[in-house]
Amino acid sequence: MSVSLFCPEGASKEEKYQALIPQIQSLIAGEPDLIANLANIAAAFKQAFDFFWIGFYLIQANELVLGPFQGPPACTRIRYAQGVCGTAWKERKIIRVPDVDQFPGHIACNSASRSELVIPLYDQDGAIRGVLDIDSDELDVFDAIDVHYLKFFFDHVDLF
Ligand code: SME
Repeated sequence: MSVSLFCPEGASKEEKYQALIPQIQSLIAGEPDLIANLANIAAAFKQAFDFFWIGFYLIQANELVLGPFQGPPACTRIRYAQGVCGTAWKERKIIRVPDVDQFPGHIACNSASRSELVIPLYDQDGAIRGVLDIDSDELDVFDAIDVHYLKFFFDHVDLF
């Protein structure tokens, strides 16, 4: 079975999300395994946008534990309310950080990270189960388009 994604050359960020999201939905449709699906989601977004780091942290006991990701090795465990990820978990909100040096308590898993976007992930009952974390090695990379399409994507997949 061949698995490949089509991402239009020279497309805008918005066009890329619009092209990519249905393809990722198809890629994971019918596959019940959480880790397999998160791995493919991380790989697909990494391929399309060449993010410095993209990955998942999943809540286990009272910590976030590193899940499938693409990019350099990262911190394995993040405590509740710690860093951008732990704060997004605590506050149950999307956090966009244009400059990680301005975010008190930011956890620098990699010193190259300059901006970051964290999206909480919920199950069908509305319980928070983890977060998506995307890091860039450039300042202020993430904007309302990223927030809109990533929120839309995770609002419409049944992962957990
Ligand atoms: N910067 C994150 C930690 C995870 S890494 O960036 C992969 C944080 O402050 O929560």
